[in-house]
Amino acid sequence: MGFQVLITVIFACLFVTCDGLYKDNKYGYIDRPTSDDVQGDQVKDKPVFQQQWITQKLDHFNGADSRMWKQKFLVTETYYRTGGPVFLMIGGEGPINKQWMSTDDGSTWLTYAKMLGALCFLLEHRFYGDSHPTIDLRTENLQFLSSQQALADLAHFRTVMAEQAGLTNSKWVAFGGSYPGALAAWSRMKYPNLIHAAVASSAPLHAIVNFSEYLEVVWRALAAENPDCPLLVKMAFDTLHELIKHPNNYENITKDFNLCSRLQIRSEKDRACILSSLADSVMDTVQYNNDNRAFERVLATNCTIKTVCEVMSDPSLGNPYHRFAAFVRLRTTTYLLQPCFKDPTYNEYLEDIRNTSYSGPSSGGERQWMYQSCTEFGYFQTTDSPNQPFSGFGLQYQVEQCQDIFNISYQTLYDGAKQTNENYGSYNIRATRIVFPNGSIDPWHALGITSSISDDLPAIFIKGTAHCANMYPARAEDLPQLILAREQIFQLLQKWLKEN
Ligand SMILES: *[C@@H]1O[C@H](CO)[C@@H](O)[C@H](O)[C@H]1NC(C)=O
Ligand SMILES: *[C@@H]1O[C@H](CO)[C@@H](O)[C@H](O)[C@H]1NC(C)=O
Ligand SMILES: *[C@@H]1O[C@H](CO)[C@@H](O)[C@H](O)[C@H]1NC(C)=O
Ligand SMILES: *[C@@H]1O[C@H](CO)[C@@H](O)[C@H](O)[C@H]1NC(C)=O
Ligand SMILES: *[C@@H]1O[C@H](CO)[C@@H](O)[C@H](O)[C@H]1NC(C)=O
Ligand SMILES: *[C@@H]1O[C@H](CO)[C@@H](O)[C@H](O)[C@H]1NC(C)=O
Repeated sequence: MGFQVLITVIFACLFVTCDGLYKDNKYGYIDRPTSDDVQGDQVKDKPVFQQQWITQKLDHFNGADSRMWKQKFLVTETYYRTGGPVFLMIGGEGPINKQWMSTDDGSTWLTYAKMLGALCFLLEHRFYGDSHPTIDLRTENLQFLSSQQALADLAHFRTVMAEQAGLTNSKWVAFGGSYPGALAAWSRMKYPNLIHAAVASSAPLHAIVNFSEYLEVVWRALAAENPDCPLLVKMAFDTLHELIKHPNNYENITKDFNLCSRLQIRSEKDRACILSSLADSVMDTVQYNNDNRAFERVLATNCTIKTVCEVMSDPSLGNPYHRFAAFVRLRTTTYLLQPCFKDPTYNEYLEDIRNTSYSGPSSGGERQWMYQSCTEFGYFQTTDSPNQPFSGFGLQYQVEQCQDIFNISYQTLYDGAKQTNENYGSYNIRATRIVFPNGSIDPWHALGITSSISDDLPAIFIKGTAHCANMYPARAEDLPQLILAREQIFQLLQKWLKEN
């Protein structure tokens, strides 16, 4: 999903967590909002939104700890009508992106706000963007980074804002996509007196360390375009995996994939690192296939599953290996506008992600999200299933990163995911007024609610769409089922806002 904005180029070995969450946005984003950038609060001469700060406790669960910090949020009254509801868009694993507050871009929640007369807030998640609870990101400070602390921030925010603005009796609706989608559902479950309803788009509600289904959905998404397509990707990747075992092929691999520096492999982890980075070109493409994200100023929105499968089926480009290389080159240069494909060694990656400064190379969210993955969610997209196209970055490689970066053992990681499921209930949701939109080709739907639990906990299935599609601005070429899903969500909101 889309609040993350990075300015720095990151060495990433595999960041296909959600961004959906937080994805391969190493190149895709421009302009991280700086203070004066946003404080102008003018877009095309129209006042649109204001940036403000709220004081929060560092540790909501320790009454003896009185340390405080300031959390950033944006607010727009553009659509508010007296007596209307309050919409709270929850920020996730990256800086909040002010494009979600822009009345010109028409992101879907604002179109609902306009019709329902809602006051709109966008609240940044602690430890991401400019919301810094501690002086840096050293591991001992990250103990205060958790979904439970973030939900407590949200509850406090809701209480204080309602008091300040005389909105105590207003109905608050939480919105979020991907990780924040899960937060939206959990906020309704944990604080039903504060949050009246929730729209939990593409929400991964089940924590899992070995998230091998992710790549199985990638396979099926490619097969839906063309049944040969995932087979060709698999053949290509098998060839690559074979070639990369022999140093005398490094020169050719470097050339074939237009790598920025000559391939260096000194360890198994270096091999896993480059393989996962190259596979990510396809994973990222599938996850965001046709999502109307250009308004977030991400690049490569036109690079789709169709692009992958067209290139993979083109015999004029050579064998499947050469076609895959051609796809990676095309995506890098034509769509991401990069001169070459970044190929960090594992140690270079570690050096970046271990940097604990808020201005460090991974501070846009990569380090923080990795910490949450290692302590709460897992979500590691492993190649452990046989029914998927890639190889070489299995569970062990991925969980050892928790050890290498944070000194977190496999047992701790596994216990953390288990505890998350105990705490939130995984798929076993006892609540009302939460809608769960899911997209059939979004690999994250594998951890989502896949069928309606009750009339009050409906799932909305959007065949053929990817991650968080229903949240992005509508456009002429949207699939009929996507248009219908947006409409169904609107009708649910209308109905729920009439309930007490
Ligand atoms: C590298 O590629 C060239 C041209 O495609 C080929 O002739 C050569 O045999 C390859 N080198 C190796 C070591 O396979
Ligand atoms: C994507 O394609 C559309 C239609 O072909 C075009 O109008 C648009 O400029 C392209 N966007 C980008 C970011 O390349
Ligand atoms: C962390 O990143 C900052 C900003 O890029 C840099 O100045 C600093 O030297 C880095 N620290 C370490 C320990 O590498
Ligand atoms: C991860 O999950 C897959 C599919 O459920 C399974 O085949 C594989 O053995 C698991 N890997 C490990 C290391 O447990
Ligand atoms: C890593 O964690 C272990 C077990 O908790 C601890 O004994 C050890 O001192 C830690 N190592 C470092 C470098 O912090
Ligand atoms: C999404 O939810 C619907 C229920 O409305 C379900 O039928 C469908 O299987 C789900 N889709 C996916 C891909 O999980």
